[in-house]
Amino acid sequence: CGKWVVMVTAQTPMNMSVIKYWGKRDETLILPVNDSISITLDPDHLCTTTTVAVSPTFDRDRMWLNGKEISLSGGRYQNCLREIRSRATDVEDDENGIKIAEKDWEKLHLHIASYNNFPTAAGLASSAAGFACLVFALAKLMNLKEDRSKLSTIARQGSGSACRSLHGGFVKWIMGKDEDGKDSLAVQLADEEHWDDLVIIIAVVSSRQKETSSSTGMRETVETSLLLKHRAKEVVPKRIPQMEEAIKNRDFASFAQLTCAESNQFHAVCLDTSPPIFYMNDTSRRIISIVENWNRYEGTPQVAYTFDAGPNAVLFARNRKTAILLLQRLLFYFPPDSFFGLNSYIVGDKSILK
Ligand code: PMV
Repeated sequence: CGKWVVMVTAQTPMNMSVIKYWGKRDETLILPVNDSISITLDPDHLCTTTTVAVSPTFDRDRMWLNGKEISLSGGRYQNCLREIRSRATDVEDDENGIKIAEKDWEKLHLHIASYNNFPTAAGLASSAAGFACLVFALAKLMNLKEDRSKLSTIARQGSGSACRSLHGGFVKWIMGKDEDGKDSLAVQLADEEHWDDLVIIIAVVSSRQKETSSSTGMRETVETSLLLKHRAKEVVPKRIPQMEEAIKNRDFASFAQLTCAESNQFHAVCLDTSPPIFYMNDTSRRIISIVENWNRYEGTPQVAYTFDAGPNAVLFARNRKTAILLLQRLLFYFPPDSFFGLNSYIVGDKSILK
């Protein structure tokens, strides 16, 4: 009767980079100037849930983000939708008597509803989880045969860092060499279970939207920063194998040293941009000092920090005991009702709160 609807729901966590992606060599295809490495977080806390639906009764593609309708006319959405539609295959749902042939996908329209359970555009990689989830859900709906790494080349065209959220655990985005971007994809380095001791705590310093979007910031950095050129050519190619080794051996001292150095160089590159970009604030810098002093006092790293394009701190504690101490320290230095109080804490491991 032509009144059917087929729906798929997917859930994708955000990822947090420990070797940073900053700077594109191709803005349309979203090809980076260096490789990057990230950790995909626990899906229970920071994730996007997306439902995609198709029906012959829909007259155009529409999308709602956190309950509000948004435009799909932007190049990034259009690129993802086009790439996915071109790979769609036959879908047969015998139980409900629904059959969608490969050629029908070009004519059928989609409704997409997406929800983030964390602040959107506040340096918590909401677009990463968002585009990864959109691509994954649509790939299921349209019966794509591509594996996750292949799908990551599509998510990458929505938001660069999104390609890394297609995998769980520890993930590397290989920058690739091809001009068409086919080899710029994400691969899993180690799965979710690999480093069980590591606890991730996010200190939400501010949930306000960032002032400089990462696209604008990256463009200005690529155009003006000499430090970025040095970083992409000399620094990151050395740090990538070191980080892979640290992850493989669960070597927290090396992991922490590299993670903090990467965060600091990323923000130095922002400062080296004209006009300079400031993503961290006084609270962010206070957190850095607390962690640095603690690590120096202990003689070996206990906690690592990283900050993306926003003031929120992502902290990695070497184990659960350290994570509890870290939470205690944060509450001591930033009492909830003080001027410097943090908004909230998100603990990437439920068991620590028991
Ligand atoms: O959100 P994107 O894909 O435009 O880029 C954000 C890049 C950082 O989050 C700042 C760093 C990274 O490696 O994820």
